[in-house]
Amino acid sequence: MLSHTFKSVMIALAFGAITASAQDFDDPIPSRRITEYQMPPATQTHEFARVPDTNMVLLSQMSNSNLVKIELDPTTEEFIALHSFPMGKDSTSGLHGVWPSTVYPGMMWLSLQYENKLLLVDPGKESWTTPTILQTIDIPAPGNGPHCVFEIDNRVWAGLKEKSNQTEKYYVFSADVSNTTDYTLYESLNSPVFIKEEPTTGLIYVTQDWDSSIMRIDVTTDETEQLPIPPSFGNTAVGMTTAYGAMSGVWFTLAGNGTGGTGTFGHIGSDGKMEFFQLQNSLGANSGLLHLADATTKDGGPALWILSTSLLSKDSPDALIHVTFDADVTSITGEEYISMPTQHSSVHRVVPLDSTVLVSELSNFTIAQLSYSNTVAGKWLPSDSVNGSAVYAEAG
Ligand SMILES: *[C@@H]1O[C@H](CO)[C@@H](O)[C@H](O)[C@H]1NC(C)=O
Ligand SMILES: *[C@@H]1O[C@H](CO)[C@@H](O)[C@H](O)[C@H]1NC(C)=O
Ligand SMILES: *[C@@H]1O[C@H](CO)[C@@H](O)[C@H](O)[C@H]1NC(C)=O
Ligand SMILES: *[C@@H]1O[C@H](CO)[C@@H](O)[C@H](O)[C@H]1NC(C)=O
Ligand SMILES: *[C@@H]1O[C@H](CO)[C@@H](O)[C@H](O)[C@H]1NC(C)=O
Repeated sequence: MLSHTFKSVMIALAFGAITASAQDFDDPIPSRRITEYQMPPATQTHEFARVPDTNMVLLSQMSNSNLVKIELDPTTEEFIALHSFPMGKDSTSGLHGVWPSTVYPGMMWLSLQYENKLLLVDPGKESWTTPTILQTIDIPAPGNGPHCVFEIDNRVWAGLKEKSNQTEKYYVFSADVSNTTDYTLYESLNSPVFIKEEPTTGLIYVTQDWDSSIMRIDVTTDETEQLPIPPSFGNTAVGMTTAYGAMSGVWFTLAGNGTGGTGTFGHIGSDGKMEFFQLQNSLGANSGLLHLADATTKDGGPALWILSTSLLSKDSPDALIHVTFDADVTSITGEEYISMPTQHSSVHRVVPLDSTVLVSELSNFTIAQLSYSNTVAGKWLPSDSVNGSAVYAEAG
């Protein structure tokens, strides 16, 4: 039996032949593609960031504590060269965080989780030049285990993922970039991951994954406050990003647990209230959302890139999801699903470049790169083409 869709297309083609109008069959064909780039073999391929204003991406491989320098083609952003450098005293140093400094343009912050150190490095101009360590910050006791590192307004921040040897507690570290003896350790829950600034209030928000809560820090008073994730929405707050304009505030994702996720992510704006959004498409309903990035464009309006990962549950897909919102960012208006080519790869981070988007496939030493031709993210398979009725109407 012919499906309705197929019949509609047949009718459209038949009418098209007579009326020779309606569909622009000569238009360039929209396409999207994912290229997987093989990195040096390692069991954990983690975080990456572009060195601002260059064609270089730095990537951490935690399991062997190697830093991979990737050179991009300046036009297409394709990977054209890579070289790998051991960081720390040996392969157990636990290189994890990678973040650009703005105080020192061109320099990058790295974290050595198992050496309890932060490094400021000059990555070097070419992919083959060895990075130079400019500064080492030893995390002071009782702090232990810097995981993700960020620089916010003249201060370097790190979420300390390991339980303190002295107090058995967890902390967030913050120090003045130009005077690192001026530091603060904020006691947190188990355990701090992403640290971001809400742009209107200047308040700092920290996701804490296992205790499923968000900590708010007022840096003017050093007071902290916990905002627990209501279990009815999900659990395990991990990824967080700052957004501006209509999206203004911090956005965060819930990764779920061993039984899967709830396809839920949230926002905190200048009023300090948590607001939750849930993916509507059945593909996203049980997804474990690990990380996200702003995807807003002038033409496309407010949007996010959100990563669903199989890291916590094999029931969650490894997928990149493009979510669009209405102009006021009160509801979701579109969801585009891009299934990652390597499933069960525990995808870890998403970082948009200028014209492509990169995703790290953690357990399979791969970086996936998404690119579009003759269309843009969010316009892929517009809903009006799915059941063919638009074609039928136009042809008629
Ligand atoms: C904590 O204790 C472990 C086990 O003794 C040790 O390997 C590690 O270096 C200590 N870390 C810190 C930051 O003191
Ligand atoms: C650096 O910070 C420490 C601790 O706050 C302070 O005592 C010291 O005066 C500062 N040094 C400079 C050069 O500002
Ligand atoms: C996992 O999360 C779900 C809700 O998202 C919750 O009902 C369940 O109790 C959690 N399981 C564990 C082991 O925490
Ligand atoms: C990806 O890595 C996981 C963990 O090592 C492994 O089980 C799986 O087979 C790998 N997938 C592919 C397609 O190689
Ligand atoms: C496609 O089908 C759905 C369900 O029948 C309908 O609501 C929707 O309007 C249709 N799309 C278009 C563009 O006609």
